[in-house]
Amino acid sequence: MSKLAMISGSSSGIGFEIARILGGMGYDLAISGASDKIHDAKTELEKIGVAVYAFQADAATYDGVEGFWQFTKDLGRNVDIAVLNVGIGLGGAFVDNRLEDDFRVIAINISGTVHLAKRVVQHMVPNKAGRIMIVSSLSATTPTPYETVYGPSKAFGFMFSESLREELRDTGVSVTALLPGATNTRFHKNAGMATSKIDHGAKNDLHVVAQQGVDALMQSEDSLRHSRSRSPKSYSTASTTVPHRLDGPDLRISG
Ligand SMILES: NC(=O)c1ccc[n+]([C@@H]2O[C@H](COP(=O)([O-])OP(=O)(O)OC[C@H]3O[C@@H](n4cnc5c(N)ncnc54)[C@H](OP(=O)(O)O)[C@@H]3O)[C@@H](O)[C@H]2O)c1
Repeated sequence: MSKLAMISGSSSGIGFEIARILGGMGYDLAISGASDKIHDAKTELEKIGVAVYAFQADAATYDGVEGFWQFTKDLGRNVDIAVLNVGIGLGGAFVDNRLEDDFRVIAINISGTVHLAKRVVQHMVPNKAGRIMIVSSLSATTPTPYETVYGPSKAFGFMFSESLREELRDTGVSVTALLPGATNTRFHKNAGMATSKIDHGAKNDLHVVAQQGVDALMQSEDSLRHSRSRSPKSYSTASTTVPHRLDGPDLRISG
């Protein structure tokens, strides 16, 4: 039987691309998303010739995260790879943003990551095998004014990944953190940053980001920052995101 990979937040963007690459490597896929686009993604990924299982739920809720885990577990198979990818951004001034929107970032990027990691680790450690990827961000490594909750939420993901990796070192389960720079998905538009400088600046190529992430995962590397690009021409350099973040007013959302 083929091996199984689960990837959260995978109807589009980096998650979909990682799913596509893992499918091409022969992994069956358990995928998730909030909207019914996840079913289109299933249809698209099935063209690769692997089995694809799609789950639709809001990863901001306990039931949404638990549901994706139970759905995957109920397939009755070992989970060989878990990519904890789902994450949302939120642009704008902290003083203006609504508290419930800040909490939603924390629910998906922090609580949801811990929740799914708990289930995956408790499944993989007894099997003495498994690969986990936590999708963080270069935002984890720098102040992120006007993304003042998002960046720290990704810093949590990075440090969580590093800590878990050390703790699981002798268990046969690896943990890899992926720290993309700005990448050409709908992420910034979804974060309300369609008019920001960062959404209009140079971005990393989605496929290259995903491919490098999968390569790092398969080699059980500890983390991959996109400043370590293997094909520099495909990348805006990692540091180009920093000045954009530091001249904050450019990240203000107009209108
Ligand atoms: N793109 C970047 O510049 C960038 C840079 C650094 C790090 N990252 C990180 O990379 C990861 C993926 O980002 P991306 O660029 O691929 O973002 P994206 O294009 O906005 O991701 C979209 C995917 O996430 C799903 N999703 C969004 N909200 C969800 C929710 N509440 N519940 C379940 N699924 C949800 C979407 O499903 P629906 O469409 O059905 O809602 C879709 O499958 C995130 O963790 C992000 O922080 C991105």
